[in-house]
Amino acid sequence: MGHIQITPSILNADLANLAGEVARIGSADWVHVDVMDNHFVPNLTLGLPVVESLAKSTALPMDAHLMIADPDRWAPAYAEAGCGSVTFHVEAAAAPVRLAREIRAQGARASMALKPATPIEPYEDLLAELDMLLIMTVEPGFGGQKFLDLCLPKIRRARALMDKHGVETWLQVDGGVSLETIERCAEAGADVFVAGSAVYSAADPDRMVAELKAKAEA
Ligand code: DX5
Ligand code: ZN
Repeated sequence: MGHIQITPSILNADLANLAGEVARIGSADWVHVDVMDNHFVPNLTLGLPVVESLAKSTALPMDAHLMIADPDRWAPAYAEAGCGSVTFHVEAAAAPVRLAREIRAQGARASMALKPATPIEPYEDLLAELDMLLIMTVEPGFGGQKFLDLCLPKIRRARALMDKHGVETWLQVDGGVSLETIERCAEAGADVFVAGSAVYSAADPDRMVAELKAKAEA
């Protein structure tokens, strides 16, 4: 398994003070930015111009999570805008292999996300095309939801498939990750952890990043 990384989501941060909020998580490995379009998910957040500005305002690499319809059209632009990693949802992508290649061609890490009810097995042969697989542990759309334990077997199966194919693909979990749930995810084989409300509801977000990392590494 790869090195443990924590990528706080700014969804539940003060969106009127994005640069300041990102400055509170200096020891994070990435900043997770949730892009929602009110079509793929019933919520609307921010888009390309904001991501572009944010990428310029922080030294932390950006981990863009696109919860949008038609990622085939938009995802490469997020790579071009300076995101180090770009995640699209397979449920929304028309041509996931082509899309992953286009993201990589723009110099970013290509990542594919699965909603809780989307199985991993049909995508086994795509793993080599991906730098990261995101297994959602809540229904995408909102921060602060309860972690879905029913996703744990899929994390385990994804890790087994990665081992079987000998790929270096990172395995990310997103949704309800906290000090209560992170160990279960790590034990199942995840190595990249998104945490939104757990980090930004903490009095000291940066310290929470360190605590989450320590739990996942234990
Ligand atoms: C939900 C987003 C998550 C969200 C996580 O659709 O993809 O990144 O911000 O927030 P928590 O950690 O509060 O579940
Ligand atoms: Zn997310």
